[in-house]
Amino acid sequence: MPVLGVMDPRRALLDALRGGPAPPRILADRLGVPIADVRDHVEALRDAGYAVNRGEAGYRLDGVPEYGEGLMDGFDSPFDVEYRPSVPSTNDHARDLAREGRVDVAVVADRQTGGRGRRGNRWASPRGGIYLSLIVRPDLPPDRVPLLTLAAGVAVVRAVAPLGVDASLKWPNDVLVGDDGRARKLAGILTESSVGGGSVDWAIVGVGVNANAGPGRLPGDAVSLRELVDGRVDRGPLTREIIDAFHSLERSPDAIPVAWRAAAATTGRHVRVETASGTVTGPAVDIDPDGALLVETGDGVRRVTAGECEHLRPT
Ligand code: BTN
Repeated sequence: MPVLGVMDPRRALLDALRGGPAPPRILADRLGVPIADVRDHVEALRDAGYAVNRGEAGYRLDGVPEYGEGLMDGFDSPFDVEYRPSVPSTNDHARDLAREGRVDVAVVADRQTGGRGRRGNRWASPRGGIYLSLIVRPDLPPDRVPLLTLAAGVAVVRAVAPLGVDASLKWPNDVLVGDDGRARKLAGILTESSVGGGSVDWAIVGVGVNANAGPGRLPGDAVSLRELVDGRVDRGPLTREIIDAFHSLERSPDAIPVAWRAAAATTGRHVRVETASGTVTGPAVDIDPDGALLVETGDGVRRVTAGECEHLRPT
């Protein structure tokens, strides 16, 4: 067997085991490490939920975890998955990786102890939710980065549709279910980026979806998929769908506003947007190609790039 090139040794071991059972000595040669390291990596895989057993032919891969590190196994995706059972915040973990130069990584956790929302809010993150942060290096100028938030919202709407959940988007980062007035929040997006010399070094697109949280584990204005579909949902396919849908939109930024409009709850509403420079009130008429909200006011159409938006009434 050829020795594998520079690669995360655990990943390399997994790839080798996918080829069939192999004795430790062969695996060690293949990875270019001592046999003792192979044993350590097997233990680490077991800790991450992989069923690695030892038989006559050596180590054998008998099962991959339902949700976690093996999320994208066997699927064609540019994202490497970094799964953690629990982290303070997947966005924070992703930021540390981004600073080390990592890109195209999906940080996934089963729970967060310090989940963050926009404007310094806390994001309730009990076990069973989807907590996902994608590290990307978008081919976009900095002032178009808000499109990534919109793309992630569209990705969530598309991912939950096959479950019969009809979600809609409140500009800029909320995924809602239900009529306005009684709309509840199913998911939220928090995008953070690092910009240098006029270009984007990295962006982290954090997606939180209330998936399997039981009653009483979420704030009053939130709703979980479990409530909506009357049972637990399988987070693996959902997370993959979010990643895939996001990835295809990210590659075609000009398609993002079009896709967003198709799921938007904000356009066609009177809105009140609290911005850094004051309150903007009026009918939300559209978004522009950079994802800014266009609001008709007494003084003409105002372009709002960031702010806290409240839906008032239909226009
Ligand atoms: C919001 O609606 O205010 C945004 C919520 C974003 C929550 C997600 S969960 C995964 C990622 N990690 C975080 O700490 N926040 C985002």
